[in-house]
Amino acid sequence: MNNRIFIFDTTLRDGEQSPGASMNFNEKIRMARQLERLQVDVIEAGFPIASEGDFESVKEIAKQIRTVSVAGLCRANFNDIDRAWEALQYAAQPRIHTFIATSDIHLKYKLKKSREEVLDQAVAAVRRAKSYCQDVEFSCEDASRSDIDFLCRIVEAAIAEGATVINIPDTVGYSVPEEYGAIIRTLTQRVPNIANAVLSVHCHDDLGLAVANSLAGVMNGARQIECTVNGIGERAGNASLEEIAMAIRTRGEVLNAATNIVTEEIYKSSKLLISLTGMHVQRNKAIVGDNAFAHEAGIHQDGMLKNPLTYEIMTPASVGIKHSTLVLGKHSGRHALKQRYEELGYQLSTEELEKAYTLFSALADEKKQVFDDDLVAILQDELSSPEETYKIETLQVTSGVNVVPTATVGLRKGGEFFQDSSTGDGPVDAAYRAIGRITGIKTELLDYSIKSVSWGQDAIGEVFVKIAIDGYVFNGRSASTDVITGSVKAYVNAINHAVSARFRKQQSSGENVGV
Ligand code: KIV
Ligand code: ZN
Repeated sequence: MNNRIFIFDTTLRDGEQSPGASMNFNEKIRMARQLERLQVDVIEAGFPIASEGDFESVKEIAKQIRTVSVAGLCRANFNDIDRAWEALQYAAQPRIHTFIATSDIHLKYKLKKSREEVLDQAVAAVRRAKSYCQDVEFSCEDASRSDIDFLCRIVEAAIAEGATVINIPDTVGYSVPEEYGAIIRTLTQRVPNIANAVLSVHCHDDLGLAVANSLAGVMNGARQIECTVNGIGERAGNASLEEIAMAIRTRGEVLNAATNIVTEEIYKSSKLLISLTGMHVQRNKAIVGDNAFAHEAGIHQDGMLKNPLTYEIMTPASVGIKHSTLVLGKHSGRHALKQRYEELGYQLSTEELEKAYTLFSALADEKKQVFDDDLVAILQDELSSPEETYKIETLQVTSGVNVVPTATVGLRKGGEFFQDSSTGDGPVDAAYRAIGRITGIKTELLDYSIKSVSWGQDAIGEVFVKIAIDGYVFNGRSASTDVITGSVKAYVNAINHAVSARFRKQQSSGENVGV
């Protein structure tokens, strides 16, 4: 029987805090629900003291997620810990995750504290956390560059105070596997009470070694791996959950390890994160990249046809990639659509099916062939739509060579219709300016990307925009066969997110989030 490895997902904390990966309240809840379906063991939902938004989303995730543990991060001080508990108290299985740096570099330049002071602070923090919650994780930030004797001392003290999980981060992605594995092994050998806690690994990918280091940790006694979907995270990211889960599923006998991850949910989780953040993965990304299961070379294709075992070490189905090219056309009915969505892993309510069918029919009129990725794109589009405050009613653009790009946009808000025009650097810029004139909302465009989700000239283009309004960031997305319409819809979607965030905020506290 292989060792059971616990998967601690930090997509919503270490992942979400990285540039380009921010998610709003509803998006975090959707991601958390998907992580629950993926059956990770712990969801680190955020850093409650970091912002009001983080606090609210950790609290809501704690309320909604019932089958896995929910953790919140806090520095090793009472304010942070108290605030984390305020959010986590609603969880079925709460975990307080407190941390302090242990390397001399961090102690000298960042904390300006001695080792003794840090040790005392760590002990006091674990004690405080333990007064609220049975499950307490203690992390030694920059552990891999810390003095090993001090690391052993602080780990022992934290466990003596009741820490149930001890995390050993390679915070700056500096370790190489042998070295990192040796740190974990040393802790298992030298810390007398180590059996009273689970040892955890948390590796960053600065040298592209995060997954290798995590697995080296497991081979040397770690029982928890911290990772993120698509490997998002600070700088070069964290260890990628899908790579860890599939390495363990495929090579479990060598690693003497097994997880509870429902690997068939991996592809959907990856796609959902991409659709929420607009952060794509490279085509050749292991497990979830577009080419991960594509066999192009003739010799490989020949081998695959003779027996997939020749070149395939895991099946696309094992990560939830369903093989089907042409799915449905405009004569397909609701029943066929519902069944196809079920095959793709989406259980739609009657109301959702009705909406999806309307979108599907419109798409099938524009496109002859509707592929699985198209179906997922229109569904994500529908699910990511906030209460529509502004609705695009008309859009006309002029652009070309030797003409000034101009757009006229008509928006409906409630019973009122507004229309305005603007010129711009291009048709999309002109439309965004026209929308600015109508709504009076000043935005800064932080990111804009467009990607085709299926094949052919009539393929759907998926557009992501990220805008900032008074320092708050909002994402918008849309899927359309017309890239200009898609770009405008994505922008209006982001504005509607901003407006509904303000509405929610006003409802909960009377405060304004800036729009
Ligand atoms: O990388 C790191 O050290 C962390 C800790 C806060 C766990 O993310
Ligand atoms: Zn980290």
